[in-house]
Amino acid sequence: MARGKLYIVLFTTAVCGVFSVVVSLAAVTLKERQEANRKLDQQRNVLVVADLVDPVTRLTVEMADSLFRENVEAQLVRLETGEVVPDDDPLAYDQQRAKRDPALSRPAPDNRAGIPRLPLKALVYLVKKNDALDAVVLPVEGMGLWGTMYGFLALEDDLNTIRGITFYDHGETPGLGGEIESWRWRDQWEGKRIYDDASEVAFHVRKGRAPPDDPFAVDGLAGATLTANGVTYLIQFWLGEHGFRPYLRNLTSGMEGH
Ligand SMILES: Cc1cc2nc3c(=O)[nH]c(=O)nc-3n(C[C@H](O)[C@H](O)[C@H](O)COP(=O)(O)O)c2cc1C
Repeated sequence: MARGKLYIVLFTTAVCGVFSVVVSLAAVTLKERQEANRKLDQQRNVLVVADLVDPVTRLTVEMADSLFRENVEAQLVRLETGEVVPDDDPLAYDQQRAKRDPALSRPAPDNRAGIPRLPLKALVYLVKKNDALDAVVLPVEGMGLWGTMYGFLALEDDLNTIRGITFYDHGETPGLGGEIESWRWRDQWEGKRIYDDASEVAFHVRKGRAPPDDPFAVDGLAGATLTANGVTYLIQFWLGEHGFRPYLRNLTSGMEGH
C-alpha cells in the first residue's frame, strides 16, 4: 500500500514536470508569433478604420505591410506639445509598453476615462492620398464597465469629421457593452463631428436614440449605458487638450502653411 502511494506521488510529479516543460516551451516558442499576430491585428484595424481595406478581407502580413508602405505614414507624437518626434522606425514603438514604463510615461491628469498613466509619446497614423493628407488615425483607450477598451478613431482631412471607429480589445459583455464592436452601431459614427463651433469636444454617445440631425451624437447602447459613457469619456479625453488636441492643432497649422 505504501509503495502504491509513493508511485502515485512520483507519477503525478513526473506528469506535472513534463507538462510544465511543454507549456513553458510553447509559451517561449510562440511568443514571437503572438507578437507578429498582435501587430498584424493592429495594422488591420488601422487599415479598416481608415477605409483602406474591406473588413472581410483576410489580410496577410505582406498585404498589410504593402498597404501601410503605400498609404500610411506612422508618426510618434509627444502628447504634451503635439510635436512630431523624429524616428526612423515609428512602427517599432510599443505604446502600451511605454505606458507601463515610468521613464516613458507620466501620471495622467484627473479624467473621467479612467486613464491612470499616459505615455509620453503616442503612435499615430497619417493616411496619404497623392501625397496629401487624407485621414488621420488615432489610438484611443479608456475604461468600460469591465476593463479598458482599446480602439482607433479615424478623422477625415478636416481633422474634425469622423471616418470611423474600431475597438479591437475590450472586456465588455457580448450583446451588451460588447456591441461597441458591431457594425450596426459603429456605422453611425461616420460623418459625425468631434468639435463644435467653440472648438470644444462635443461628440458623445447618447442614452437612447440620437436625433438624426445631431452632428455630434450617436445612439446609446441598450442596457449598456456604463460602457457607452466610457466611450464618450474616452473620446472626450483623447480629442481634448491632454490627448491629441495639441497635435491636431499643429497638423492644421502645418496644412495651412502649405
Ligand atoms: C451579467 C451582466 C453584464 C453586464 N454587462 C454590461 C456591459 O458590458 N456594459 C454595460 O454598460 N452594462 C452592463 N451591464 C448592465 C449594467 O449593470 C447597467 O445596468 C447598465 O449599464 C445600465 O444601462 P441602461 O441604463 O442602458 O440599462 C451588465 C449587467 C449584467 C447583470
